Amino acid sequence: MTVLLHISDTHFGTEEPPVVEALQRLAREQAPDAVILSGDITQRARSAQFAAARAFCDSLQVKHLLTLPGNHDIPLYNVAARMFSPYGGYKAAFGGNLEPELEFGDLLVIGVNTTRPHRHKDGEVSVKQVNRVVHRLREARREQLRVVVTHQPACVMRPEDEKDRLHGGEVAVQAWARAGADLVLGGHIHLPYVSDVCSLVQPAAPRSLYCVQAGTALSHRVRHGSPNSVNVIRWTAPVEGAPRLCRVERWDFDLAECRFELTHPYDLTLGE
Ligand SMILES: [Fe+2]
Ligand SMILES: [Fe+2]
Repeated sequence: MTVLLHISDTHFGTEEPPVVEALQRLAREQAPDAVILSGDITQRARSAQFAAARAFCDSLQVKHLLTLPGNHDIPLYNVAARMFSPYGGYKAAFGGNLEPELEFGDLLVIGVNTTRPHRHKDGEVSVKQVNRVVHRLREARREQLRVVVTHQPACVMRPEDEKDRLHGGEVAVQAWARAGADLVLGGHIHLPYVSDVCSLVQPAAPRSLYCVQAGTALSHRVRHGSPNSVNVIRWTAPVEGAPRLCRVERWDFDLAECRFELTHPYDLTLGE
C-alpha cells in the first residue's frame, strides 16, 4: 500500500505549536511514503518563515516531499521582490522546480503551479498547463493512482467560494477527468471536503474525478468552523479485473486531546 499525507496552508508565521507537534506525531504514526504540501506554506513569504517550514518538513522524516507555492508564498508588501523575484524565497527553501512530479510504480503525482504574481490571491491554470497534465496522465498505467495537485481549488461546493475557484478550473477538470486523473488535491480556502467533480461541472465530467481539499494544517487561520485538518490517502494497486478503490481520510485536530483524529473516511471507487 502507498500512503500519502496531504497537507496544505501551513502558513508558517501563524502556526500553532501544539498542532505542529500533533502533525509530527501523526506523520510518525502513519509513516507515509510521501508528503504533499499544496501551497500557502508561509504567511508572508519571509525567509524565516520559509526556513521554519523547511525545518518542519524535514522533521517529518518522510522520504518524498512534493510542494507547491501558494499565493501567500509570494511577497505581498515588497513590491520589488514581487515583480522581479516572486518565487525567490520559495525556491531557496524548496528548490527551483515550481511544478514537481512524483512517480512510483503505483503512483503518479503531478504538481501545477496555479499562483500568478499579478493576480494576487487568484489562481489560474493555463491551456499549456492543462495540456501538459493531460499528456502525462495519458502515459499513466491502470495500477497507478493519478493525482493532480493545485493550490487554489479546481472545484468548489458553495456559491460563495466561486470567487476563489481556479481560473480555467472547469476546463481543466473536464480535460483531466477525460485523460484519467483520479484525484485533484488543493487548499487555499481552508475548507476541507471530498467530492466527485462529475456533479460539480457542466457538462458533467465523463468519469469520476474526486476533488480532495485540505483545510489549514497548522495555522490559527481556521475558517468556516473547520478545525485544522489534513488528509491521509491510501492506495493499493488493483489486481487485474478488480475495481480501482482508494481511501481518503480526513484527520481533524482535536483540541481536547491535542492530536489529529480520523473524522471523515471516504472509500472512493475510481474510474478505469
Ligand atoms: Fe491559505
Ligand atoms: Fe492561498
